[in-house]
Amino acid sequence: MTGKNPPSNLRPETGAFFQRDRAWHPPAFTPGYKSSVLRSPRRPLLSLDNTLSEITGPVFGHDILGELDDDLIYNFAAPGKAAIGPRIIVHGRVLDERGVGVGGALLEVWQANAGGRYRHRRETYLAPLDPNFGGCGRTITAEDGSYCFRTVQPGPYPWPNGPNDWRPAHIHFSVMGHGFAQRLITQMYFEGDPMIWKCPIVRTIGDPKAVEGLTAALDMQATIPMDARAYKFDIVLRGRRSTLFENRREGN
Ligand SMILES: [Fe+2]
Repeated sequence: MTGKNPPSNLRPETGAFFQRDRAWHPPAFTPGYKSSVLRSPRRPLLSLDNTLSEITGPVFGHDILGELDDDLIYNFAAPGKAAIGPRIIVHGRVLDERGVGVGGALLEVWQANAGGRYRHRRETYLAPLDPNFGGCGRTITAEDGSYCFRTVQPGPYPWPNGPNDWRPAHIHFSVMGHGFAQRLITQMYFEGDPMIWKCPIVRTIGDPKAVEGLTAALDMQATIPMDARAYKFDIVLRGRRSTLFENRREGN
């Protein structure tokens, strides 16, 4: 730490710190997930101190959001049009390990369309593009850590890993906390999808409970009749100052 007081918008940390549980996360080198072979580090990691600006910023205000940023069904659609696919609501809370909601966290999401195709120039899957679906959105958690966005359920898609590998339906999440050093990238899967356990990326995760933690539950309570099904996905972070641990040397 720098010895300076934290900015006034952060509540002071009073509880115990939580060490990163490295057994919970998959190892970097997992040959079943082919691209991890070249991407995993060959040398010990270096530990760099955080700068003050990485720890204290950015702080996001709700005023940065556009009106349709949290509505992927309409945020890329032509006037009077809508994205094609099963309409869903994804909601939940961002929590720290004490169960306290993390407000003001920026959530950015991106996903394939209902046919399993991304709007990206390197996309090669033959499923059609939806002219009214862009595939990305964002929202900011409320004071209690809650969030919600609307989209269409993405389709599974094949990828060139093994001879016949498919990704389960998933939504990518970026979570930005109270500083650049607090960024988490993860993926959300859908309850009941038989493709989850066949996926080589999912299989890099050692503990089935960790996979279950990435799987959003169908939430009939939040479903809007005749409109959209709902899925609930809570994201649990470590303590609010967990970046101090993230940047320690491996094994510390
Ligand atoms: Fe993906």
